[in-house]
Amino acid sequence: MRLPALISLCLFLSSCGFSHLTDVKSQDNTGPSAKECGSCHVEQYAEWQQTAHARAFISPQFKLESSQYDDEDCLFCHSPGDVLASEKEARNFNRNEGVTCVSCHLHKESMQGPHLSGALFSPHAIAKNSKVNSVMDSSQLCGVCHEDTYEQWQNQRKNKQFPTCHGCHGVSVERAHTKGTNFFTNILVAFEPVHKVRSHYLILPNQPGMGIGPDLQFDSIDDHNIHFTLINNLPHDLPTGSFGEKELFFVLNCLRTDGATLSDQKITIPSILSSGEKKNFTAILPQKEYCDNLSIDLFRLHQSTGKATLIRSYPFTTPNK
Ligand code: HEC
Ligand code: HEC
Ligand code: HEC
Ligand code: HEC
Ligand code: HEC
Repeated sequence: MRLPALISLCLFLSSCGFSHLTDVKSQDNTGPSAKECGSCHVEQYAEWQQTAHARAFISPQFKLESSQYDDEDCLFCHSPGDVLASEKEARNFNRNEGVTCVSCHLHKESMQGPHLSGALFSPHAIAKNSKVNSVMDSSQLCGVCHEDTYEQWQNQRKNKQFPTCHGCHGVSVERAHTKGTNFFTNILVAFEPVHKVRSHYLILPNQPGMGIGPDLQFDSIDDHNIHFTLINNLPHDLPTGSFGEKELFFVLNCLRTDGATLSDQKITIPSILSSGEKKNFTAILPQKEYCDNLSIDLFRLHQSTGKATLIRSYPFTTPNK
């Protein structure tokens, strides 16, 4: 039976077994899949699916470096059980889901989240423990695995009030926790309160208007070159983390009058910038008559997909334009 249909049935029976969602230990061989959570938490599932967390186990690079998953030490972070548990354990079920819903949310047989529940109907237990709730709302949760980054953030926090990890990496949205997918569930969801929440999507650039990212200062420009400084204003290294290979690079982007882009000049950032550090760069200007709009775009290459994402674009004009 489809889940939405089950919910409607539950309303009539007013007692129904969803216990398989919460009655599960990391050592069990089966457990709820992300897709199952996603049948009600539609948006959260769609966001999570696009993240590196969802690829943490299936990433070809991880498979290779963990000797085809043979290295047990890697699994707690790449296919974790309950991250809030005092004992760090890998998960035995749905390993290919990497860092999945139950890893972060299922603790002591109930779902942990920072928001107060207010729904008419909740198919699974929701924790009321405010101590755990506040961990869910903190950088500490992320620090369980992002150990170095967390340490960097903690050090910077001594000098300046930076947001939490999620405060930057999850854009703020207003929504109910679940989404109606048919007539009955639409009615149920209509009674659910709307919360101010943070998206599960972790990459910043695709979130318009965020305005978060390293600063770029244009220093001088002549007929042939542009000199600029990259400033790491983040509370962690750029790039951060101690695993895998990191690659950040600039592309000098020249948008022509006819709409075509010329972006063949790639400048790789040669070393890690620690928090507050600055670095100077020079790019060669393309022939100006070809360019209508110029920008320097900062990209990050994602090892697990081989794709680059735009971190931030910094537009500039030449003096005689
Ligand atoms: C049949 C629908 C359904 C399924 C399946 C389901 N949930 Fe829920 N979930 C709900 C409803 C309804 C609420 C309560 C919403 C409210 O009170 O505003 C909720 C609340 C939550 C919360 C609480 C958020 C907070 O901050 O209080 C979390 C976390 C959560 N679910 C995670 C999960 C996970 C993880 C799974 C899969 C293992 C899952 N849910 C499966 C319907 C579902
Ligand atoms: C259970 C361990 C674990 C926890 C907890 C965790 N992460 Fe991750 N995170 C990972 C792993 C592993 C990767 C790398 C996966 C890959 O690239 O294959 C990752 C990748 C990322 C990335 C890189 C995104 C990208 O596209 O390359 C960001 C950003 C991130 N995590 C932020 C967070 C934030 C914010 C939190 C807290 C809400 C968090 N993580 C909690 C394990 C974790
Ligand atoms: C002030 C905002 C801000 C805060 C707070 C923040 N980050 Fe970031 N983070 C960024 C930006 C901007 C990037 C660069 C974008 C990118 O690399 O995709 C980034 C990049 C990352 C990356 C990708 C690493 C790479 O390969 O470049 C990870 C992982 C990450 N952050 C984890 C964290 C964790 C964990 C915390 C909390 C301890 C945190 N961040 C706090 C803004 C922030
Ligand atoms: C890396 C840890 C992590 C993973 C993996 C994760 N979540 Fe969350 N989730 C969080 C955090 C942190 C919050 C609190 C965000 C906020 O401030 O609203 C949250 C909030 C929520 C909420 C309540 C806020 C909202 O968006 O309505 C629901 C429901 C939820 N998650 C469901 C899921 C589901 C379903 C999955 C899997 C598809 C999932 N989560 C995967 C960390 C995680
Ligand atoms: C303490 C938690 C933790 C452990 C243990 C861990 N990782 Fe990771 N791993 C991460 C996090 C977090 C990231 C994302 C960014 C970063 O911090 O480098 C990551 C990213 C990676 C990446 C790059 C992303 C990708 O998928 O291409 C590789 C490769 C990787 N880890 C391999 C391993 C291997 C191999 C082991 C075991 C020897 C291991 N990791 C153990 C937390 C962990």
